Amino acid sequence: MIILGIETSCDETAAAVVADGKTVLSSIVSSQHEVHHPYGGVVPELASRKHIEAIVPVVDEAVRASGVDAEQLDAVAVTRGPGLVGALLVGFCFAKAFAYMRDLPWVGINHLEGHVNSVFLEPDPPPFPFVALLVSGGHTSIYHVTSHTAMELLGQTRDDAAGEAFDKVAKMLELGYPGGAVIDRMAKEGDPDKIIFPRPFLDKLVFDFSFSGLKTAVKRYIQIHKDDCTRQIPDIAAGFQEAVVDVLSYKVIHAAKTKRCDHIALVGGVAANSRLREKVRHDAGLEDLTVHIPSVELCQDNAAMIAAMGYHYLVAGKVSGLADDVFSRARMG
Ligand code: KG4
Ligand code: ZN
Repeated sequence: MIILGIETSCDETAAAVVADGKTVLSSIVSSQHEVHHPYGGVVPELASRKHIEAIVPVVDEAVRASGVDAEQLDAVAVTRGPGLVGALLVGFCFAKAFAYMRDLPWVGINHLEGHVNSVFLEPDPPPFPFVALLVSGGHTSIYHVTSHTAMELLGQTRDDAAGEAFDKVAKMLELGYPGGAVIDRMAKEGDPDKIIFPRPFLDKLVFDFSFSGLKTAVKRYIQIHKDDCTRQIPDIAAGFQEAVVDVLSYKVIHAAKTKRCDHIALVGGVAANSRLREKVRHDAGLEDLTVHIPSVELCQDNAAMIAAMGYHYLVAGKVSGLADDVFSRARMG
């Protein structure tokens, strides 16, 4: 089954063609980062406008690069939510029209389930059940995953998402948007043990997170050391990143042990973080757990994961109808 996937939930216009839910024939991502960079965050109205400009060329390019004809497509999968409503609507309405015109089945996909399923686009995916840590700009959650379409939420952030914390700290340090990748880079030049920021573990037995206190601690440090801050940026970045990574790594390993799962998946934009990848692999190895992390391209927003998820839903007999709408807040299914 050859599926065209479309993703426009935030600031990436993405389209991909995927065969049988696992072979990526093409994956095109057009990022709007430069548009939002001056504002230190995504401006929803600008995001919608840019999606409108990009959607047709991006889909055209994905079909062309896949080597299949548009006539050979069997179905369309499109992100339905969560995300920015105006942005989602661009991809969603485009997908509806595209499928209607060609009389193809189509299915609306939960972006978060797409991220979790991104591990199946890589060789050697985890067997069910496994525990997934989803860390992105909008979400930080741990799931117990029992099938492609069944995942139980074990815990989530009570305030900022991990990626949001990276972006806000980058903004405080005037490093621009999005902040994750630049903090990752800066941290390599810093000493993670020089400035020790608090580790917000909360109750070590629960799988919830809270990053707003850590963010405030960084803000206070910057205020106190404002005369000398520029010189300290690498150490601040490294200290902050190490605190986030410590908590994420501890919680996901603890969840896997509690659920007696031998396999962990690390997904979402923040899973691109080099220190997080290294730390979870190392710590999980000590507990004989196997870690699955997609390539950086598949961690960040993309449409291949949406097409893959579409395959699993369509095989299970789920299709969407023209009356269906997008949704903005997190929910599963
Ligand atoms: O999954 P994603 O592409 O979009 C959402 O669904 O939110 O995640 C974007 C987030 C941003 O907050 C970005 O700063 C963060 O992922 N990110 C990183 C890295 N690369 C992207 N965070 C930490 N380290 C990175 N290398
Ligand atoms: Zn995402």
